[in-house]
Amino acid sequence: MNIRTIDYKNNKIRIIDQTKLPHKLVYINIERLEDLWQAIKIMRVRGAPALGAAAGLGMYLGIKDYRGSDWLGFSRRLNKAAKYIASSRPTARNLFWGIERVCLVAANNKKQPVAKIKKIILSEGKKIMQEDMASCRKIGAYGSKLLKDNSTVLTICNAGILATIDYGTALGVIYRAKEEGKKIKVFSCETRPLLQGARLSTWELYKQDIDVTLIADNTAAKLMGDGQVDLVITGADRIAANGDSANKIGTFNLAVLAKYHKIPFYVSAPQSTFDLIIKDKAGIKIEMRKPEEITSILFKKDIAPKKSRVLNPAFDVTPHQLISGLITDKGIIRPPYFKNISKIFLGK
Ligand code: MRU
Repeated sequence: MNIRTIDYKNNKIRIIDQTKLPHKLVYINIERLEDLWQAIKIMRVRGAPALGAAAGLGMYLGIKDYRGSDWLGFSRRLNKAAKYIASSRPTARNLFWGIERVCLVAANNKKQPVAKIKKIILSEGKKIMQEDMASCRKIGAYGSKLLKDNSTVLTICNAGILATIDYGTALGVIYRAKEEGKKIKVFSCETRPLLQGARLSTWELYKQDIDVTLIADNTAAKLMGDGQVDLVITGADRIAANGDSANKIGTFNLAVLAKYHKIPFYVSAPQSTFDLIIKDKAGIKIEMRKPEEITSILFKKDIAPKKSRVLNPAFDVTPHQLISGLITDKGIIRPPYFKNISKIFLGK
């Protein structure tokens, strides 16, 4: 693809600052872990797989200036970086997976000189990016089989190029279908409050020459009722062992609507989004964000009294019973999810 969300270049993490889209395509370079933490927090970089890469590369920022040569001191620094990055946003499994991967590879090489471990950590961060690029293409290949020529897909938030390294999960399915010569129409829910659907999905789909129509979130029922949606495809931030899937707030609404209208509802995600330690949705921590996201339009224009009591969960969990299939990099998983998720990822 022609857009790269996150990269490591000239000893810096380079990201697209997504808070500037769709007005300006701005790349920023990050050299300090504190700046990366902030970029994650305010969502300059966002989307579960992109957060996995940011976390992996962020671990390198956290240790690169360590001066000592002893494993004990180094591992303390590594753990400090891990805790710090983990405190940025709680829901996307990929962020924690990226941290854990780096900690594991460091521990496996603890007998090596510190300078060598640093290099290994950086190359692990880069490997996470390479793997995501391949995973998304596999998701695209499996998922595009669900789409016919002239299919219409409804999606929410941004599970595209901007949420991954360069291809996308839910939108990757659409890009692949286009590569295969299918004409696909997309309805993009605007995705209040931070408008990832309006600002990001619509922007990138236009850029990739996909027929996209932006809708307000509350238009989805009407479109489904009018027979204008063939299937719903969303991304995921964390998927429990039983298939319960956390994604952007409003995804659960769409799943309920899809069930009522007998429209297939698919969730797409790489293996790195699955959290098989947690049984079901009760184990998924939902991020609560600040009231100003709701009382204003992108912090620029107040649309409610500043002192309004506000509830602003960033995600909801779609129960597995409402999901027709999970489009993964290992294939499409169908119910019964507990059994089939464990078979595909754990081989049992
Ligand atoms: O709050 P965000 O913008 O990070 O939320 C992102 C989503 O909900 C995406 O759908 C999810 O991370 C999957 S991205 C492939």
